[in-house]
Amino acid sequence: MKQQLRPVGIIGTGKYVPEKILTNSDLEKMVETNDEWIVSRTGIRERHIAAPHEATSDLAYEAALKALDSAGMRAEDLDLIIVATVTPDSTVPSTACILQDKLGAKGAAAFDLSAACSGFVYGLATASGFIQNGMYNNALVIGADTLSRITDYNDRNTCVLFGDGAGAVILGEVPEGRGFQSFDLGAEGSGGSLLNIEAGGSRLPASHQTIEDKKHFLYMNGREVFKFAVRVMGTATERVLTKAGLGKENIDLFVPHQANIRIIQSAMQRLDLPPEKCVINVDKYANTSAASIPLALVEAAEEGRVKEGDTLLMVGFGGGLTWGASVLIW
Ligand code: ACO
Repeated sequence: MKQQLRPVGIIGTGKYVPEKILTNSDLEKMVETNDEWIVSRTGIRERHIAAPHEATSDLAYEAALKALDSAGMRAEDLDLIIVATVTPDSTVPSTACILQDKLGAKGAAAFDLSAACSGFVYGLATASGFIQNGMYNNALVIGADTLSRITDYNDRNTCVLFGDGAGAVILGEVPEGRGFQSFDLGAEGSGGSLLNIEAGGSRLPASHQTIEDKKHFLYMNGREVFKFAVRVMGTATERVLTKAGLGKENIDLFVPHQANIRIIQSAMQRLDLPPEKCVINVDKYANTSAASIPLALVEAAEEGRVKEGDTLLMVGFGGGLTWGASVLIW
């Protein structure tokens, strides 16, 4: 007999961005760039940057406290913690374990998930699977990144694009007919070198030479990543809608990865979506990697843009290369 799976959805949300704001005009003083170029090519006006004492787990902690509060839960009640990040506090222990300790979520399973900007959607799919099949009753899923720590502020090709932040959700059982309807995750590992950090892993461990060669910074082939992004935002969106048995006309709110306004606009065009059905905050936060989709989602919820029963479509892409999409009934 086929076992009935439990419906799983979002029962709490929280976000955090560091206090310090780096504007386009600040960047004009650091590299040869200008506000007009950045705004017209990316839609970004400013980004938040972590203070020297703040690491990824600190950003995640602040977002997690808010999510727990909004779910009316205590940290001790958490069964599972997943932190999607490419900028962990350290390689070992994982950021999720550091966070588990800070929160006092004693006994909760905790691990990091690495899928760059798609990490949050990968995390949602992973955690909802655990809850659906009854292994856990709830999970804290966080997208948190401190990209400023791996950005070369002498490289105008990348330094204008990124910011720091964290977005958190609590997943749990929801009434029948609500919650996650479908996921579409994928990867194109052959494109790994289009967006990478060459050194610091087991292939090329940190050395004086790797530091001198700036191989610990994020490298990106922007043009190629752009083409990949436009392509997979379209295909992943179509597939995830089909899997949910829905059409583009059913979308009440589109929550795309906030990397570049032109990528978002091309997806909106393909879906025939009016601006009021799309969350855009890339102007304020820039590309915050794994934090981007949850920051957009949580901000939309806080602004009252999401009502019970609304159909949301989240979609992102990132290093790996990876993509992830999900349809969620709120
Ligand atoms: N200011 C001024 N000029 C600049 C800047 C800057 N900050 N950066 C680049 N330029 C110049 C380039 O040097 C180039 O000059 P050239 O023609 O003399 O060589 C010119 O502007 C145009 O460069 P392009 O690369 O063609 O610019 P494009 O329109 O493609 O925009 C951008 C570049 C914004 C990076 C775009 O390609 C993009 O958004 N790509 C996708 C990035 C992305 O979404 N990454 C997500 C994954 S991140 C992650 O997973 C962590």
